[in-house]
Amino acid sequence: MAKLLHIQTSPMGDLSFSIRAAQAFLDAYAATHPGDTIEVLDLWKSELPHFDFTAASGKYKIMRGLPHSGEEARAWECVTRLIDHLKSADKVVVSTGMWNFSLPYRLKHYLDIIVQPGHTFAFDPEKGYSGLVTGKPLQLILASGGEYPPGSPAAGYDFQKPYLEMIFGFIGFTDIRTLRVEGTLTAQADLSLSRIADQARAAAREF
Ligand SMILES: Cc1cc2nc3c(=O)[nH]c(=O)nc-3n(C[C@H](O)[C@H](O)[C@H](O)COP(=O)(O)O)c2cc1C
Repeated sequence: MAKLLHIQTSPMGDLSFSIRAAQAFLDAYAATHPGDTIEVLDLWKSELPHFDFTAASGKYKIMRGLPHSGEEARAWECVTRLIDHLKSADKVVVSTGMWNFSLPYRLKHYLDIIVQPGHTFAFDPEKGYSGLVTGKPLQLILASGGEYPPGSPAAGYDFQKPYLEMIFGFIGFTDIRTLRVEGTLTAQADLSLSRIADQARAAAREF
């Protein structure tokens, strides 16, 4: 029995294109994987700790191989709880809209908490960086008001898909699949959603 974690990052609820595409994926997943559990982490409803002076000093201590102070250790309990939660999943789905050509700040905040030395990535002076969150497939479900076809001039503005694929790859994900609902602010929005929802259902069966 596997656990699928859906990290949901749109504040728009039932109006959200990324959530509606993800829901099509999850409904098909539940129907085809009846023994599995699905857990939702809604980043707009979850408490994310500030990554402030204490948390950042704790990070630099880890990088220098130094022990945490009591205050840093307390700040890091929240950090490691979120990391352990991510690692407890067997499969991960991240759904998000594009904000200012990249990510909504709640998702960036989450990533700034969970991308940590010794926990989700390691550094070796000879071998370089390696990811520590391994063996899990990741399905990205991305929405954007505009369209960013590969090779087009608009693609140069897209820091959503390339950043997410890079950062999750950095922490160890090697099986990353991406679906995009594009043009959600255009007259083609509903057509785009229904096309991607069909692709999401097919993708869920193989996930
Ligand atoms: C704060 C904000 C910034 C946005 N910036 C962009 C942008 O840079 N490029 C774009 O194509 N769409 C942009 N949009 C439109 C969203 O990407 C689009 O509405 C998408 O459907 C949002 O995902 P959701 O429907 O799952 O919430 C922005 C929307 C908001 C609220």
